Amino acid sequence: MPWAEKHRPKLFSELKGQEEAIRKIVDFTKNFNSEKSKKALLLHGAPGVGKTTLAYVLANELNFEIFELNASDFRSREKLNEILRPAIEQQSFSKKSKIILIDEVDGISAYNDFGGLPELIYLIKNTNYPIIITANQIWDRKFNDLRTNSEMVKMKDVDYKTIKSLLIDILRKEGKFIDEKTLTEIAVKSRGDIRAAINDIQTESGVKSEEKIPIAERNKETDIFNSLKVVFKGNPKNETLEVFDSVNMELDEIMLWIEKNIPSEYKGEELARAFDLLSRADVFKGRIYKQQYWRFLLYENIFLSYGISASKNPRRVQGNGFTTYKRPDRILKIWMNNKRTEKQKSIAKKYAKYTHIGEKRAMRDFPVIKVILKNPEAQKEIKLNEEEIEYLMK
Ligand SMILES: Nc1ncnc2c1ncn2[C@@H]1O[C@H](COP(=O)(O)OP(=O)(O)OP(=O)(O)O)[C@@H](O)[C@H]1O
Ligand SMILES: [Mg+2]
Repeated sequence: MPWAEKHRPKLFSELKGQEEAIRKIVDFTKNFNSEKSKKALLLHGAPGVGKTTLAYVLANELNFEIFELNASDFRSREKLNEILRPAIEQQSFSKKSKIILIDEVDGISAYNDFGGLPELIYLIKNTNYPIIITANQIWDRKFNDLRTNSEMVKMKDVDYKTIKSLLIDILRKEGKFIDEKTLTEIAVKSRGDIRAAINDIQTESGVKSEEKIPIAERNKETDIFNSLKVVFKGNPKNETLEVFDSVNMELDEIMLWIEKNIPSEYKGEELARAFDLLSRADVFKGRIYKQQYWRFLLYENIFLSYGISASKNPRRVQGNGFTTYKRPDRILKIWMNNKRTEKQKSIAKKYAKYTHIGEKRAMRDFPVIKVILKNPEAQKEIKLNEEEIEYLMK
């Protein structure tokens, strides 16, 4: 079981760094009355900061029952009414009051042809129960109506120190140990995504020390060693831009190697400059993943090759000293593991879109979906690419 699930907070006190959001959501539910104009609360923020968790913690602490609706329930008004009817009728039987949860509203937009957001607004205007909506991105124009009809509450990006102490708690409960430096690194790298940080420590603590990187991985090393030498020791030239072309590795992985080895080549200002450029390359990497903007690979490459090379002080006398570059072992393992879930995610996403279910649900049901998608017809239908098919058939 993923630790992120196992250690999902049940109480307000366990939900870290979100005190303000907690206060607002409690006020909202306690002061809810169906005459008021705003009957929905829109919880927004980055992935893995606790939006879904907060909704469930709220229900737990205030003894509410959650009635969850998802994207496909908004396909038409009839459908919506049909689904809501039992929720409303049941009220007389159960003492518990209800909250309607619409998790990941971002997905609803995809159903424009079938209705969708207008049905949601209709629901907000007519509901007798408080509605809680979660979303990552809400600034799109199509959410204008939703925003004016909801009380907006932003969930903060949690700072790395808070994340670190949370990670330590989890490790203690699991009886596992990770050294201080590694923990800090994981907490910083997560950039507020607590789920990602928890996944990382789970992977990390599961890796046995004898476990080695596969041979195929090691064969790539001669190439990367040579390229690193060009970047770190040579003067930046136009050819430097092509230095990684011959390395049989994805740029993301190359980035890990550079990160690992910057400190053994650069000192002082050079070090700061190099890390600054690295963080910019990382920003592009983020955009590539989020927006599927493959053209940005170009920029990522420029920062990583020429940029890192040009970080050194041009007046520094080049020693021709020999550096043994280190393999980014630990991070590499985490990276390989994440890549695996990355594939799974992209497949689940396509499946979810096709079948009108939420992405999260597709991820949860992945073992079943995987079987369905062994069928080549199905693969074609939801437009899987070669890599995704290869992953499924393994
Ligand atoms: N503020 C927090 N305090 C403690 N644990 C947290 C917090 N935020 C997230 N987590 C951990 O991360 C996991 C994922 O959180 P959750 O599903 O609530 O994120 P989310 O904001 O809904 O993300 P998404 O945008 O991807 O839906 C939780 O199960 C919990 O283990
Ligand atoms: Mg969520």
